[in-house]
Amino acid sequence: MRRPLSLDVAGLGMLGLRQRMSDFIETLLQRMSPAEKIGQLNHPAIGADTTGAGAATADVETRIRRGEVGGISAGLELERLHALQRIAVQESPHGIPLLFTLDVIHGHRTVFPLPLGLACAWDPALVRRTARVAATEAAAAGVALAWAPMLDIARDARWGRAAESPGEDPLISAVFARATVEGFQGSDLAQPDAVMACAKHFAGYGFAESGRDYNLADISPFRMHNVVLPPFKAAVDAGVGTVMVGFHDLAGIPCHGHRELLQGVLREIWGFDGLIVADYTGIAELVNHGVAADAREAALLAFIAGVDIDLISEIYWGHLPALLAAGRIAQGDIDAACRRVLRAKERLGLFAQPFRGLDTRQRDAATLTPAHRQLAREAAAKACVLLKNSGVLPLAREGGAIALIGPLADSRANMQGTWAVSARPEDSVTVLEGMTATAGSRRRILHAKGANIVDDPNLAARLNLFGETFAIDGRSPEVMIAEAVGLAERAEVVVACVGEAKEHSGESSTRSDLGLPGSQRRLLEALHRTGKPLVIVSMSGRPLALEWEDGHADAILHAWFGGSEAGNGIADVLFGAVNPSGKLTMTFPRRAGQCPIHYAEAPTGRPIDKIGVDVPGDREIDRDGRRAFRKFTTACRLEGPHTPLYPFGHGLGYSAFDYGALALEKTIMRGEGDALTASVTVRNTGAVPGEEIVQLYVGDPVASRSRPLRELKAFRKIALAPGEERTVAFRITVADLQFFRAERLAAPERVCEPGLFRIEIGGSSERLASASIEWQADR
Ligand code: BGC
Repeated sequence: MRRPLSLDVAGLGMLGLRQRMSDFIETLLQRMSPAEKIGQLNHPAIGADTTGAGAATADVETRIRRGEVGGISAGLELERLHALQRIAVQESPHGIPLLFTLDVIHGHRTVFPLPLGLACAWDPALVRRTARVAATEAAAAGVALAWAPMLDIARDARWGRAAESPGEDPLISAVFARATVEGFQGSDLAQPDAVMACAKHFAGYGFAESGRDYNLADISPFRMHNVVLPPFKAAVDAGVGTVMVGFHDLAGIPCHGHRELLQGVLREIWGFDGLIVADYTGIAELVNHGVAADAREAALLAFIAGVDIDLISEIYWGHLPALLAAGRIAQGDIDAACRRVLRAKERLGLFAQPFRGLDTRQRDAATLTPAHRQLAREAAAKACVLLKNSGVLPLAREGGAIALIGPLADSRANMQGTWAVSARPEDSVTVLEGMTATAGSRRRILHAKGANIVDDPNLAARLNLFGETFAIDGRSPEVMIAEAVGLAERAEVVVACVGEAKEHSGESSTRSDLGLPGSQRRLLEALHRTGKPLVIVSMSGRPLALEWEDGHADAILHAWFGGSEAGNGIADVLFGAVNPSGKLTMTFPRRAGQCPIHYAEAPTGRPIDKIGVDVPGDREIDRDGRRAFRKFTTACRLEGPHTPLYPFGHGLGYSAFDYGALALEKTIMRGEGDALTASVTVRNTGAVPGEEIVQLYVGDPVASRSRPLRELKAFRKIALAPGEERTVAFRITVADLQFFRAERLAAPERVCEPGLFRIEIGGSSERLASASIEWQADR
């Protein structure tokens, strides 16, 4: 046993602490052999990892003892983690502690709504609070580094990983990024309730062609800088400790070998000095991508591109020593990567407290507390988006029977949603339980399953891959539907909980059909035929195509997957204890064939409105300088309108909000430092208090590049009592008018071009008051 280099933190004193800490790292580096340094870059699988196909490393204890391992997955019993950490600290050459990592995507043991759902609350403080709780629980379970937030812009509902993302918009995602990083990392990573965050997947993974996971994403530098990169930049500005590289090929260069992206943009332009981490076996996959002949070349490509940590592949460990000996890579670069790993461990306080978070009693005390559950309930309700309501909601707490029908009405395990790796099914509250608890004896709840989530046993097996979340009921669809209809006929109102299984979304879960799976639509049709008011509670990890449902149901509440307290949160909304205030952060198409679809589309040469394609008119010029168009009589998309079913920013509540005219402080801005205020008065015309999300969009009708019709620039969530009105003012600065021109990825140029801009304010991306302003370059 070699004695570890000891770090006496208590004796360091505040003055010069940073300097002494880095002296400590430098001294340590000088003592380490090249192989030990490469060992710090190695993060193998040890059998607890639940994603990907990496083979578990045999005899990890010996490997840790030899200094061949820098980090491992924390998804193990604490006793085992403690034993491994003890070996690292007491028996490895320099006593360097292991970095324990895990996916903490939307909570740890207390599960919050899917990120896509949580983002729909448009509430950064809520995101920060949930991240804080997730960090507290995860840190108490030994996790030092959490693989989140996922910041991929998602504009294609077929892509299963949309569930993990904040949605389609760069600003919403940037706000989410900042709040999550702050919530995870706190003010000091060495605190026992902090975990290091990881912005992933860098960058553009959500633009996979046809939404097929891992596919090529052919994104221009222009779109990268204006759409894809802003949330990552926000995470870097918020001090995120690590960035994880995307699995995909970005316009011909897989990200794990993309030097311009990793070194050029992330390190040089943004000045990121944290860790760049491979995704699971992502370095080895460079061979499959066809850019490396073998593992050795893959290791070389990734290392030169700037990837510090090899997650699972183990090919850094296998090949960097020989590449170093052959002079293909420099010792200085190995040192730099190793230094970043050691610094991360130092920031986390691991040298001083290597056993942080490895105490079962402390873990149990910090887990699933009543306060955590209460926050989960609040979040589950706030994530709900009321897509349609003809007035049937909220349900009265007293009255005739409610028929609660559907495969998700009493489905505990599915409430957690995808990527809840530490969740336990028994911890979740179902909708049946939530509604029964709220209604008490005042309303009878009649329950029938009505349909399976899917009818195909092979698909069911695939959806149950990470543990069974549902079993197929052996009865025929007809029998199940008949039973449900029988209950509906005895009830006053029908609540149908329908949607996907939790693993319909998540990694490698692409859909080509966005309708309700299996015989669920047939169930709804039968329920509709009873003539009873029909409330749909839909759940999924992506936008669904609900055109029929929109046309036939009396109300649709989209609840995503709400987590541990899903059932209570949904019941709170259905019975009106919570007035729903969520708004979509990802567009709901009418049909899957419309994907990708999003609100910030470019205008096209033949702008399309709600009924068809327009063709150029004679010589008319509209007030924004654009040629006017006259309607072409045939719709361009032959099966229906181009417009989404529910646009970005849409969401109803039990109040109603009236927007007054948009008022501008002035209409001309001059020079870089100028600003103006745009405001609107919003009034609650409903009978109950409610929250409204007021949205500000900016459009740039004439520029050197074709710019989106509108881009979200700010939002404000306000609470108004019935009859109350408030003026909401937004300060518009030149930054809101700017965009990036970029011919190359590593050469972005942020510009503001003189001319007219359209300012729009409203309660959805399609319900906006508008006015024009002009920006002039010279004061
Ligand atoms: C996913 C990452 C995740 C990693 C570790 C990969 O398959 O793409 O998002 O963090 O596994 O579990």
